[in-house]
Amino acid sequence: MNHVLHQHPFTPFDQLPLEDVSAFRALAIPAEILPIEIGDQFRHRMGTKSLDTSQWLPSDEETEPTIAMKRELLRLRRDEVVGLAEGGSDAAEEAAKLIAEFCGVPMQAQGVGALVEASLLVADDIVVMKPMGDEQQLVVVAGVVCSPSRWSIQTKLNSNMMAVHKPVPQYADHVGKAVDTTMARLRADQPMVRSNWTIEDHCALFQPVAPSGPLVQDPTQLWIRMERQTLRALPQTGGSMFTIRTYQQPITEYVARGKDVASTLYSLVKRLPDDVAKYKSMLHYRDALLAWLEPFAK
Ligand code: HEM
Repeated sequence: MNHVLHQHPFTPFDQLPLEDVSAFRALAIPAEILPIEIGDQFRHRMGTKSLDTSQWLPSDEETEPTIAMKRELLRLRRDEVVGLAEGGSDAAEEAAKLIAEFCGVPMQAQGVGALVEASLLVADDIVVMKPMGDEQQLVVVAGVVCSPSRWSIQTKLNSNMMAVHKPVPQYADHVGKAVDTTMARLRADQPMVRSNWTIEDHCALFQPVAPSGPLVQDPTQLWIRMERQTLRALPQTGGSMFTIRTYQQPITEYVARGKDVASTLYSLVKRLPDDVAKYKSMLHYRDALLAWLEPFAK
């Protein structure tokens, strides 16, 4: 599977857009999920906040094209975007019912079919977890993930939180235990929200693998990619669900939002340790990116 370079987030990473997309402009990433600078050195942060249930999975101008993209992926590449582990059907259905209830739509389907149906009501990806095994550890049991940032749901099935995050350098030291505690204390009536950011050289929302090498020459061709993630308990099955809404904007447009935004990004990129920059596929671009960003940030 090779990346095919294009500028249309709703076209898979390995295909060319079927129509002329030259007029496409990405939605500005919502201000409330932009990264902030905390402290003066790099650290993975929990950054979880309580969310009013009415604000759980809001829609916007990119909701419709994202759902259209999901519909096509589910039609043509279902195995790459849907995952179900043995014993996960009941938690998948419970998660689906919560989404259907939020959207005010009756849910007919059952099991993972219900999760697929629910995934087409919102732009967000859905990962479902459930306590399994002798130790009743929370593991991934189901998901519909159409906007993966270089991972796939199939490879995460049956993994606990620490195993899911194994590719993330410094995760265990910085937030490993705090994530487990947060997951154990989740509530159904009060979702939590957090966000993360990265910079990528391809804009496709559906991007289950990393490219084998750098895709662009110039930092102005990069995209900034952010996820609005929510966490919510599933009281009937004792599980929990994780939703991921992915946004991306060309870095040139992002930086043009203002000096504060550019300056925060500059500091965050500058302080990334090499191992984390490598994980984010940014190591190759970091120096050129910092040199380009500096005049906007200072
Ligand atoms: C409050 C909780 C959480 C925190 C603090 C957290 C933190 C992180 C961080 C720092 C990364 C690296 C992303 C980056 O910096 O570019 C990451 C990646 C990831 N997280 Fe989480 N996470 C949390 C909850 C979850 C949950 C509940 C799931 C559900 C299964 C999950 C699934 C993932 C996946 C699949 C990746 C990508 C891993 C890969 O590259 O293979 N996270 N997370």
